[in-house]
Amino acid sequence: MSHPRPAAAVVLAAGEGTRMRSSVPKMLHEIGGRSLVGHALTAAQGIAPERIAVVVRHGRDAVAAHVTQLDPSVLVVDQDEIPGTGRAVQCALADLDAAAQAQLARSGSPAQDGKVTGAVVVLAGDVPLLDAATLDQLLEAHHADGNAVTVLTTHVPDPTGYGRILREEGTGDVLGIVEEADADADQRALDEINTAVYVFDATALRDALRTLDGDDARRNAQGEVYLTDVLALARDAGGLVRAVATEDTPSVEGVNDRTQLAALGAELNRRILDGWMREGVTVVDPATTWVDVDVELSRDVTLLPGVQLRGTTRVAEGATIGPDTTLLDVEVGEGATVVRTHGSEARIGAGAKVGPFAYLRPGTHLGEHGKIGTFVETKNAEIADGAKVPHLTYVGDATIGAGSNIGAGVVFANYDGVAKHRTDVGEHSFVGSDSVLVAPIRLADGTYVAAGSTITRDVGPGELAVARGIQRNVAGWVQRRRAGSRSAEAAQAALETEDRSDLSPQARAELARLAKEKESGA
Ligand code: UD1
Ligand code: CA
Repeated sequence: MSHPRPAAAVVLAAGEGTRMRSSVPKMLHEIGGRSLVGHALTAAQGIAPERIAVVVRHGRDAVAAHVTQLDPSVLVVDQDEIPGTGRAVQCALADLDAAAQAQLARSGSPAQDGKVTGAVVVLAGDVPLLDAATLDQLLEAHHADGNAVTVLTTHVPDPTGYGRILREEGTGDVLGIVEEADADADQRALDEINTAVYVFDATALRDALRTLDGDDARRNAQGEVYLTDVLALARDAGGLVRAVATEDTPSVEGVNDRTQLAALGAELNRRILDGWMREGVTVVDPATTWVDVDVELSRDVTLLPGVQLRGTTRVAEGATIGPDTTLLDVEVGEGATVVRTHGSEARIGAGAKVGPFAYLRPGTHLGEHGKIGTFVETKNAEIADGAKVPHLTYVGDATIGAGSNIGAGVVFANYDGVAKHRTDVGEHSFVGSDSVLVAPIRLADGTYVAAGSTITRDVGPGELAVARGIQRNVAGWVQRRRAGSRSAEAAQAALETEDRSDLSPQARAELARLAKEKESGA
């Protein structure tokens, strides 16, 4: 980057986005886990301008709050009731000038007008695949010849809806831009379009914008103040107006409706996956794998079909995710496997195994070589190294110590209908299947819980807790109460077999009684 630092970047985000047919402002619709305006802001940040302004109006409060959250240093500019991209930049430049002058006044510098000088980059907030590298090339070209305006263009097979670039024959200099609605048939046939990404010399921009007033607005078909008119005005004023054409058309395509949102979302995803594959990630089926912009992957990660990695999910070396897994803000350790799982705000330790069919809710932390198995739901659960929760279990608001094993179908009953309580299971403990641990409760290190127990009192180290009804076997019940049934016949046949070593003492007694009955009856 040899060009001077740009004075400002202006992101246009005030438009209504009618074609989205949405109650959510267009700028807040997302692709790749980032809002449209967030993508524009990221591109702008990439060229390190002295100030970034975002122009807002429709859905003003939501868009302003969102961009301020993304970057608190952003200058939020309110566009007034006059519509059009030209008006948006007029408002932005006025606020940028005021901010620059205020800064100058604070620094106590001698009299100067203090307005912005140098390069002002303008980009539409609805061009999400634009990157800083492209903006850098545009700045490079802008400064090479001392242009007044440099516009980024591209050639498209179907230019419908875009502004067309009018060039002078021979020099190729740009004469101006004509909007679709104002273009004649010859102009509409041109396939070089305005991407709505520009670099302006601040002074040339200010001068041209001064002459763009309401009267101009009334002259065009849409009744708007067009930023595109600045090009012809700057040229008339003697400035150089040039275009840089990019061949990477998707990177400059705008989102105006949901079809374009989906198409650019898919294109962004392809680019993200290509990038990770170059870094050593295996993506078995790129068509069904979705990875957000802020996700981080390592070498030899394998993504099986049907995987969505969202938010700030991070996956360490050698881990395998999928098939059919969605992770939002989840951290996966080295060599872990996560199969058919839905997880959010969770941590999975190195070498751990999760799934199939696991549901990891926020605050789940699984230690190294731990296991959260089939049909298991966890929430606010610290499951230490080597601990296993293999089947059909709910673990909520709990800690499970290292090496402990939770049997099938255990429920950590954390909610008494009013408040949530914690359960603490120590190290190397064993909770038998189908037990309920009623919180608040503590099981010490090295405890055992008998299967089918409902545990309501703490269990001390080395203790076996048994909390269930005592088993009673009623001999002969089936033959008496289900007389003539297949069960009764089967029971009788079993009692009469030669080998009775498998029979319980009660069954043997019953057999003796029956034999006696038979004898006396005969
Ligand atoms: C604009 C360009 C067109 C170009 C196309 C590329 C103009 C007049 N036309 O048309 O030449 O080919 O982009 O995608 O500039 N905005 C405001 N304030 C407004 C109106 C719009 O901030 O009053 C913002 C929008 O939020 C959006 C951007 O400017 O981010 C472009 O507006 P949009 O209405 O989408 O312009 P296009 O019709 O696409
Ligand atoms: Ca647009």
